[in-house]
Amino acid sequence: MAAGQAQMAQLNTNTRFLHDNIVDYVQRLVATFPQPLSVCFFVNSGSEANDLALRLAWTYSKRRDLLVVEHSYHGHLSSLIDISHYKFAGKGGAGCPDYVWSTPCPDGYRGRFRYADPEVGRHYASTIKRQIDTMLARDRPPAAFIAESLGGVAGQIIPPPGYLQHAYEHVRAAGGLCIADEVQVGFGRVGSAMWAFETQGVVPDIVTLGKPIGNGHPLAAVVTRPEIADAFNTGMEYFNTFGGNPVSCAIGLAVLDVIRNENLAANATHVGGLIKQGLESLQQKHSLIGDVRGVGLFLGAELVRDRDTLEPATEEANRTVEALKHKGILLSTDGPHDNVLKIKPPMCITAADANYFLNALDETLAEFA
Ligand SMILES: Cc1ncc(COP(=O)(O)O)c(C=O)c1O
Repeated sequence: MAAGQAQMAQLNTNTRFLHDNIVDYVQRLVATFPQPLSVCFFVNSGSEANDLALRLAWTYSKRRDLLVVEHSYHGHLSSLIDISHYKFAGKGGAGCPDYVWSTPCPDGYRGRFRYADPEVGRHYASTIKRQIDTMLARDRPPAAFIAESLGGVAGQIIPPPGYLQHAYEHVRAAGGLCIADEVQVGFGRVGSAMWAFETQGVVPDIVTLGKPIGNGHPLAAVVTRPEIADAFNTGMEYFNTFGGNPVSCAIGLAVLDVIRNENLAANATHVGGLIKQGLESLQQKHSLIGDVRGVGLFLGAELVRDRDTLEPATEEANRTVEALKHKGILLSTDGPHDNVLKIKPPMCITAADANYFLNALDETLAEFA
C-alpha cells in the first residue's frame, strides 16, 4: 500500500493524461501472458472487466449469442446477471435470457460425467459442441464462450484435463471467441502458472482479471489480442475515469513485485500441496469429506452425508465454517448445494498456518462423528 500512498501524495489523474506508471504497468502485466495476448484495458472491478469483455466480443464477432457454464458467476452488472447461471437460475433470478446458452459444469465428482471416465474432459466439451449445433441450427452462432478457468462459485471445480482445450476448439470452429474469467483464480494462485487457463493448455482470446490484482484496491483489467482491440476502436472511444489511474497502476506494479520477490506462486504450490495432502488424510478419517480437489491455493472439500448417494451435507458445511470462525479461520461454502468448503487463503499463508487449519478442521469434523 506504500506504493499507492506515495503516488496518491504526488498525483492522481486518469488515462487521458499519460503517466509512466500506466505504461510500465501495462508492459509488466502483458509480459506475464502468452502471445498474442498483448493489449490491456483497465477497469475498476471484475464485473466491469467482464462487461467490457462482452462488448469486445460482440463488436469483434458482430454476433450476440453467448455460451456460459452452469453455476458460474461473472459479476453483478445487469449484463453479467444475464450470463451468470448462478444468478439467473438461482433465487430471485429471471431465468436464462434468449441470447444465453448454458452448458453443464465440468464437475467430475457430482456432475453428469465423473472422474472415473478417462474421457471426462472431452465429454464435457462435447456438451458445448451439442449446444453450438443447436445454436447453428437456429442461425444463432456464438459470439463467445465465457468460462472461469476453474469454477469458483460452482464449488472449487477443477475442470478435467482436456476440457477447455476441446471446448475452445468447438467454439472456434463455430467462429466464436473464448473468454477466460480469471477474476478469482489468476495471479499465481494455481502455483504452477501465473494464469489458471495455462493449466488447461489453452490461450484464450480475452482474459478478465480482478480481485487480487490490486491486493484490496479496486483495480481490474481485460487483456486481449490486437485484432480484437482494433475492432473495438470504432470511434466511440473507451473512457474510464478511475480505471488504470496512476495510483492504481502503482499498486498493480507493487503487487507484481511482491508476487515475484516473495515467490508467492511457489508458496501456493508448496503450502497448497500440504493443505491438499492434509485434507486427503482427513478424508480417510472423516466420512463427511466426500471429495478433496484443487490446485495450488484454490482448494475445496465437498461434504456429503453418504459417499454413494452424495447427499450434500449442507448444514454440516455451514456449521464447520461457523466453528472454524471461532478458531480464527475464515472459510466459506460454495457450490450449488453450499456443501463445499472453499479454501482460498491469502497467497502468503505459511506451512504453520496450514497445520493450524488442518488441526482445527480435524477437531471440528470429529464433533460430527
Ligand atoms: C469469477 C468472478 N468473476 C467476476 C466477479 C466480479 O468481480 P467484482 O465483484 O470485482 O465485480 C467475481 C466476484 O466474485 C468472480 O468471482
